[in-house]
Amino acid sequence: MSGVDWPALKAAALAVQGRAYAPYSNYHVGAALLTADGEIIAGCNVENATFGATCCAERTAVFAAVAAGHLAFRAIAVVTNGAAPGTPCGICRQVLAEFGRDLEVLCFTPEGAEARYLLSELLPHAFTLK
Ligand code: THU
Repeated sequence: MSGVDWPALKAAALAVQGRAYAPYSNYHVGAALLTADGEIIAGCNVENATFGATCCAERTAVFAAVAAGHLAFRAIAVVTNGAAPGTPCGICRQVLAEFGRDLEVLCFTPEGAEARYLLSELLPHAFTLK
């Protein structure tokens, strides 16, 4: 996990968690992606009255990063509330896998619980067109 400023990535995830729009689930998620060139791009979950149109924090961050011109990522920090940190959902794992399976994933809670993974552990045998 060398070369990743985890405190900065966690701080960005916590800050964006505070902007989550989650009036239906009240489950607030923040995600901060570290790009290959050292930028941090954050995203929160954005819910919708249709429920199905909701976008998770991780995908919000990925889509913002791609829109800003980034296609390579080193790490993502994801913050959720509760006793144990939540892990990215299946759709978000597949979206993250599009840009590389070696991504380091840190899931944590504001209270200090955390778990670290490689994306390849969270999504073995990801779908690919290759
Ligand atoms: N959510 C995320 O933001 N990331 C995940 O990986 C799982 C779920 C959001 C979607 C929804 O707004 C709320 O958490 C409850 O599912």
